[in-house]
Amino acid sequence: MRSPARTTALASAGLAATLVALVAVVVLSGATPKAPPPGLPDPGRVVGWALPVSRLISDLFATVTVGFLLVAVVLLPSGSRLEGLAVQAVRLASKAAWIWAIAALVHYWANVADLYARPMSGVEIGQLVDFAWLFSTGRGLLLQALAAIIVAAWSQWTFSVRQLAVCIVVALGGLIALGMTGHSASAGSHMLATAGLVLHLIGVVLWVGGLIALAWVALRGSKRLPDALSRYSTLAAWCFAIVAVSGIVVAIVNVGSLGGLQEPYGFLIVAKALGLIGLGVFGVLQRRRIREQGGSFVRLALVEVALMVLTVVVAVVLGRTPTPVGEDVLTTRAELLLGRPLPPEPTWGRALIGFAPDGVGLAIVALGAALYLTGLRVLRRRGIDWPIGRTISWFVGLAIVAWSTFGGLGVYAGVAFSLHMVSHMMLSMVAPIFLVLGAPMTLALRTLPGPRRPGEHAPRSLLRDALHSPLSKFYTHPVIAAVIFVGTLYGVYFTSLFEVLMRTHSGHAFMEIHFLFSGFLFYYVMIGVDPSPRRLGPLARFGVLMLSVPFHAFFSVALMSSSTIVAKSYYEGLDRPYLTDLAHDQYLGGGIAWAMGEVPLLLVVAAMFVQWFRSDAREAARTDRAADRDDDAELEQYNAYLARLRQHDAARSPK
Ligand code: HEM
Repeated sequence: MRSPARTTALASAGLAATLVALVAVVVLSGATPKAPPPGLPDPGRVVGWALPVSRLISDLFATVTVGFLLVAVVLLPSGSRLEGLAVQAVRLASKAAWIWAIAALVHYWANVADLYARPMSGVEIGQLVDFAWLFSTGRGLLLQALAAIIVAAWSQWTFSVRQLAVCIVVALGGLIALGMTGHSASAGSHMLATAGLVLHLIGVVLWVGGLIALAWVALRGSKRLPDALSRYSTLAAWCFAIVAVSGIVVAIVNVGSLGGLQEPYGFLIVAKALGLIGLGVFGVLQRRRIREQGGSFVRLALVEVALMVLTVVVAVVLGRTPTPVGEDVLTTRAELLLGRPLPPEPTWGRALIGFAPDGVGLAIVALGAALYLTGLRVLRRRGIDWPIGRTISWFVGLAIVAWSTFGGLGVYAGVAFSLHMVSHMMLSMVAPIFLVLGAPMTLALRTLPGPRRPGEHAPRSLLRDALHSPLSKFYTHPVIAAVIFVGTLYGVYFTSLFEVLMRTHSGHAFMEIHFLFSGFLFYYVMIGVDPSPRRLGPLARFGVLMLSVPFHAFFSVALMSSSTIVAKSYYEGLDRPYLTDLAHDQYLGGGIAWAMGEVPLLLVVAAMFVQWFRSDAREAARTDRAADRDDDAELEQYNAYLARLRQHDAARSPK
């Protein structure tokens, strides 16, 4: 077992070597900070180096923070309150998060200095504020720093598994904000590049962070390492796939063509791809070694971590290297609003089979399909059957999400209000019906790794706790679910929110996710087959459903009869050569909302009656089985009760 002091010395030496590697990669890739042409203001070399150094430290310590929290909450088995090494891991996570927060704030500051071309000491408060107010990159970097501060402070004061699990979510939230910055913020297929980078960053911090923290557990000589390793190995396989696919997707958007690989950015991409292949080989070797020889994990892990950190160094330099496609891919107003070229006039063919590079939709469908299929494979390996109806329903739901986001409908969802409304209705009213009938939570609860010893927390118990948490109880209250479901319509379209959300790509992504979530939540409560902290009777659910119908209809009629054009300047800004009558297009959109609102609700009523009928049948069968088991003791008791009543009446009635 290695003493904490020696482990710290090893970590400091590792950090020093990483900074040297950064300088080397910056110099070799020609990204050394240079003075601007004469006459242009110069922020100076300090700013030039502060940018990559602070970014690297912030990326690395974000990774370490998430890694140590992951080890404490998920990988190292323990009870509801942490003990032993898990407690030390949380303390280290909190320290790492403070370093992450400071580095993220310095990175923010250096960006402002770079933008206003002045030394960091010369940056004014107003400029610091403006950067967040005026630029999405500023907002992303500030949100990341905020998330780091929350995680650092919160993890310093709690050892509750649930609260620390929330800290992991907050940390990943900070990385989502980071994914909205950098090249992807100005890339050609913006929605694809940002969603790809977000997934890439999340995959990297879970994979690299998990391995760094496990190497620390091994250096501490913990007996729980084998348990932690087997849990990590599944996660590592998923992260490897996500990092590879998302990295390649973002690389394609930024490199543009094979020719682009001959530029410095392209070389760095190839270097990263080699890094990934190397890590893949190491991963397989590590698994085989542990399985066959039970050999020491730590040496190979430290080599793997060194290769991972080197790849992160290359990534940080990549983020500062001009992309082959350049920044000005999108030029027209319509392209800047849509994040891609304006599509040709919609036809049935185009609306049915078109493709739009919508990263959010692609990520939801790809992850939804991969996770569900993995669950089915686990059940099949255990010889457990899963109703085929549920699988079909799940994939029908995913197909509808695909069509509404990156399919033909997705192509026009940002272009015309009427087609946006079809996409919205599909995402919030139709797809969720099929998704909830796919019973994803039940599948997850049956296939996620469970506790190895009684009382131990594990991924399965974490999900169960989340499903029964006070927050879940609040959201699955039928009134809350209905208000979110119907209220979204009024809140988004009868305020300026719709225009704000349509004008930003993160706003567009937020709308897609919110529409799907609000629909999923509503139908989860209405017809969900998964475990829920609240289970209303069929009549009560029917009541809530019927209550939501008029609000939906009223929304549609109000939209159709409104003289105000929603998001007028956005649609005028598109200047599309078709569907030019905005008022008529909105009228059409209202009509679609009305028609498409009623049909799914009828579907739900039908599903509810089927469930009601089935639950009655199940109840009858259960009563019959009980009667068979105890010779109908219940009926006997009832008859005896009636006999006693009769005797009582007879005794009281005058002879
Ligand atoms: C096939 C392999 C990979 C490809 C094609 C790839 C591609 C990319 C691309 C295009 C970016 C965005 C850079 C920019 O802003 O322009 C990126 C960012 C990043 N990649 Fe990868 N990547 C790969 C593997 C990896 C691996 C194995 C790691 C770590 C172990 C990694 C860590 C990162 C990090 C940390 C960033 C964000 C850097 C920043 O802070 O801006 N990537 N990657």
